[in-house]
Amino acid sequence: MKPNLFVKVAGVTLTNPVIAASGCYGFGDDYTDLYPPNVLGGVSCKGTTLEPRDGNPTPRIAETHGGILNSVGLQNYGVDKFAADFVPKLKAQGCVVIANIAGSTLEDYAEAVSRLDGTDVDLIELNISCPNVKQGGAAFGVTAEGAALVTKAVRAVTKKPIMVKLTPNVTDIVSIAKAVEAEGADALSLINTLLGMRIDINTRRPVLKNNVGGLSGAAVFPVALRMVWQVANAVDIDVVGLGGISSASDAIEMMLAGAKAVQVGTAIISDPFAPLKIIGGISEYMRVNKIKNLTEIIGKVKPW
Ligand code: SIN
Repeated sequence: MKPNLFVKVAGVTLTNPVIAASGCYGFGDDYTDLYPPNVLGGVSCKGTTLEPRDGNPTPRIAETHGGILNSVGLQNYGVDKFAADFVPKLKAQGCVVIANIAGSTLEDYAEAVSRLDGTDVDLIELNISCPNVKQGGAAFGVTAEGAALVTKAVRAVTKKPIMVKLTPNVTDIVSIAKAVEAEGADALSLINTLLGMRIDINTRRPVLKNNVGGLSGAAVFPVALRMVWQVANAVDIDVVGLGGISSASDAIEMMLAGAKAVQVGTAIISDPFAPLKIIGGISEYMRVNKIKNLTEIIGKVKPW
């Protein structure tokens, strides 16, 4: 019998648990020649703000061992173009659309989210974890108080499900997860990138013009897995795991740790087919182990 890969995140049904992570898949346009975007469980679109942004000066991407550093700075078209052009296009292709929304102030977040209320966006991913902007972003996400304030402001203006994307650049991610759960978040996604740096030894300049940037890719996977496990054990809302997932076995580890679904980001940059290989690998693992439903895996790690 074919394994059942369906999962529900924040009340939204996904045909499989593999979502393209924000910032690594754009709006799917670059990949449609390779495969239709609706074969993915969902698409988390590039971080979008109330007004368009040019992002940070270049260079803003650097390779590292097992990952990349980015300091993109939320380059995006603004929420109105996102709502008018990209959402209908993705919905017409049968995708579950996740809007990743960032802002500099509480008002920015609330206004951007409220402009999506009349659209077919399935889920709002509240980005309070971008490390590359001077105002807002991770400034809200690094304290339980700040994270709670944004969640409350956005909860007040939308009935759409809200998934809050957490930063790992904190001492106690569990207290932040609990604070946003208490303000009405329906789900959590974690982790965003880890703050990092590279220096060119010849010029003695940081490789990134922003000096520092966010580290993603296989190198961060064990950190992400640990945080997902800690958070999933502390909250009742759904958890989506991301951070360096590059194989089906990574995705299964994330689900064993408590993630209902996973996001694949940096792996897509080196292999656009990575999400498809991961979906196939999960299905094969279920077939071999006679697992009919993903609920038999989710949160089923047996800690020592
Ligand atoms: C960026 O655009 O700087 C990355 C987005 C993020 O880390 O949330």
